[in-house]
This record gives sequence, C-alpha cells and structure tokens, in this order.
Amino acid sequence: MNLILMGLPGAGKGTQAEKVVATYGIPHISTGDMFRAAIKNETELGLKAKSYMDEGGLVPDEVTIGIVRERLSEEDCNDGFLLDGFPRTIAQAEALEKILASLVRELDFVLNIDVPKDLLLERLTGRRVSPSSGKTYHVIYNPPKAEGKCDVDGSDLIQREDDKPETVKKRLEVNEQQAQPLIDFYKAKGYFKNIDGNRDIDEVFADIHVLLKGTHA
Ligand code: AP5
Repeated sequence: MNLILMGLPGAGKGTQAEKVVATYGIPHISTGDMFRAAIKNETELGLKAKSYMDEGGLVPDEVTIGIVRERLSEEDCNDGFLLDGFPRTIAQAEALEKILASLVRELDFVLNIDVPKDLLLERLTGRRVSPSSGKTYHVIYNPPKAEGKCDVDGSDLIQREDDKPETVKKRLEVNEQQAQPLIDFYKAKGYFKNIDGNRDIDEVFADIHVLLKGTHA
C-alpha cells in the first residue's frame, strides 16, 4: 500500500500516521521527522534545514526531494510506505511521480486531512512531544496519563520550537499557499480522498481504515 497523508500543519497527519503504521505495518516517512533528526544529530542536512524550519518556511525542494528519493529506495519500502508531509509543492509532487516510475510503483491513495484553519493554531500550540519515543500529545485533546510525561517511556514532554505562536502563524500561511494546487494536482490523477479531520482522533482513523482495508492484501 503506497500512501500520502496531506493536510495543513496540525491537521493530524502524524497522529493518524502512527495508527496507520501500527495497523498496516508500512514504514512512516515523515520529512519533518527526518529534518528534526538531522538537526538533532547536527548533520549537513540538519544545518541546511534548520534556518528554514525555525522561520516556519519550507526547506528547498532539491534538498527535500533528495532525502525522499533515498528513503523510498530502501528495502523496507518495497511492500509499501506512508509519506507524511511530502509532497508539499507541485515540484515535489512531479519529482515523486518520477521517483515512483523509476521504482515501478504507483500511489494507491492521497488522503487529505481537512481541518478548518481556525482550529489549527490551538492544536499546534497545545501539542507536546516526547523527543525520545516520538509520541505526540495535546494538552487538551490527547493528554498523557501523567501531566508532562510520555506514556511510552516516562520522558519529559517538550514543545516543538516551531510550535511557538509566531512561527505557527507563518507555517500556516506558507503551507496554505501550497495546499490547493497540490489538491488539484492529485484530484486530477484520481486517487485523492478528503478526510474530515475535525472529529475525535479515533473517528478520523475509522474513516481512513475503511478506505484502506479495501486495498490491503
Ligand atoms: P512537519 O513536521 O511535517 O510539520 P507540519 O506539516 O507543519 O505538520 P505537523 O507535524 O505540525 O502537524 P500534523 O498534521 O502531523 O499534526 P499532529 O498529528 O502532530 O514539518 C515541519 C517543518 O519541516 C516544515 O515547517 C518545513 O519547514 C519542513 N518540511 C517538512 N516537510 C517538508 C517538505 N515536504 N518540503 C519542504 N519543507 C518541509 O497533530 C497536531 C496536534 O493536534 C497534536 O497535539 C495532536 O495530539 C492534536 N490532534 C491530532 N488530531 C486531532 C483531532 N482529531 N482532534 C483534536 N486534536 C488532534
């Protein structure tokens, strides 16, 4: 199963990706996570990505396309993958077509998690993450069992640097500009599905699961 999860920042891509991956056993390829890991490890990629991410902008296409090309060529993607946060521009979508053609692969679904923009600011500023387990919470909508501690490994939860209100506003603006052309691109290809993301996390996943289980061997 070859999937893309699209949606504005805070729409719930990472939250739903975690459930899809646990249910279908396909690798979760999040460009945001890859960049954050590179920044933490102070690699050349991290150095390139950091300034764009800190400002709430997009990392240049050539850098982003390069890391996705490499990742999709790895063996664990042979039986499927879930792309989260990629593509985000038409140039990235066109490059992905070429990468998949070279691997003789096709997309099954492009799922767009649709949430009204005015809810996203609250979702992002209330998000807390565990840097060690990678698990995501929300102080109101998805709180951990013990305040400020990860359910998985008990680590201290933190706020992502780019979840501070000023950066969030910029991220939403930048991503909104790119969203509609990308939706139109995938609608024209025929595998685009809109998912109402303005519901409880498990209800959103139930819809995704109904769609996916029909295609899963
Ligand atoms: P990335 O990490 O991909 O961030 P993003 O797209 O801004 O998305 P988020 O991770 O913020 O949100 P999400 O949709 O995953 O929401 P989540 O599930 O966490 O990218 C970061 C940066 O990297 C970019 O700004 C850019 O600089 C760079 N980058 C990445 N990819 C790139 C690319 N392709 N090209 C160029 N640059 C790129 O949920 C959010 C919160 O809401 C959580 O607290 C969660 O618990 C809560 N929540 C989730 N679902 C629900 C629900 N149904 N109801 C209530 N609360 C919910």
